[in-house]
Amino acid sequence: MSGLFITFEGGEGAGKSTQVERLRERLEEAGYRVVATREPGGSPRAEAIRASILGGEAKPFGPFAEALLFSSARHDHLEKRIRPALREGAIVLCDRFADSTRAYQGAVGEIEPALIDALEQVIVRATRPDLTLVLDIPAEEGLARASSRREEAGGGVDRFEQENVDFHRKLREAFRAIARKEPERCRVIDASRSPDEVAREIWEIVSARFPRNQVDGRKQAIVE
Ligand code: TYD
Repeated sequence: MSGLFITFEGGEGAGKSTQVERLRERLEEAGYRVVATREPGGSPRAEAIRASILGGEAKPFGPFAEALLFSSARHDHLEKRIRPALREGAIVLCDRFADSTRAYQGAVGEIEPALIDALEQVIVRATRPDLTLVLDIPAEEGLARASSRREEAGGGVDRFEQENVDFHRKLREAFRAIARKEPERCRVIDASRSPDEVAREIWEIVSARFPRNQVDGRKQAIVE
């Protein structure tokens, strides 16, 4: 694999999709080929699984059934989209990935870590993110943002937005714990600031992390 794999994680309303788009624009301006994608989804089959999970169809079967569905969506997404793009040397930006399964189904859904790890090993294998940006925001603030965004869009509440503040507090703690455990891969970003400030910090992290003269030869350089 010669590309770069960057994932965005965090709770609801942290502004991940905005930041994926901002980073994509910036990288494309710098001349890189970028594939921006999301989970659950990102390939036709995974998008169909997404509709089923977020519609709440698997909820009665419990968090482990949901973890399996997220994992099967991820399996297809990796095969059809992420690995081919990385092989071609693209920079893949993914809005949520395996850390969301660790946080939502593992930490909050209370699926034992060994099961979540085993799923990750079978599905993700060596395609682990080079960098994970954890967009961190207090649960109440994120939920308020997500609900005003929903009102503007006129959409309904999905499966996980229905959960209470306590669920979202645990979730935030789960993402922060993942970042503490893997400080090499993860960076926590204060997402309660303006989108411009968050985008600036993300660019600083990405460009400092992959400068041309420190690249191992396989990875593309970001900064000219
Ligand atoms: P989405 O509308 O993409 O939410 P967001 O804008 O917050 O990213 O819906 C994805 C939902 O699915 C979100 O609530 C997180 C949840 N999810 C999991 O529970 N496990 C997973 O492995 C993934 C990828 C997402």
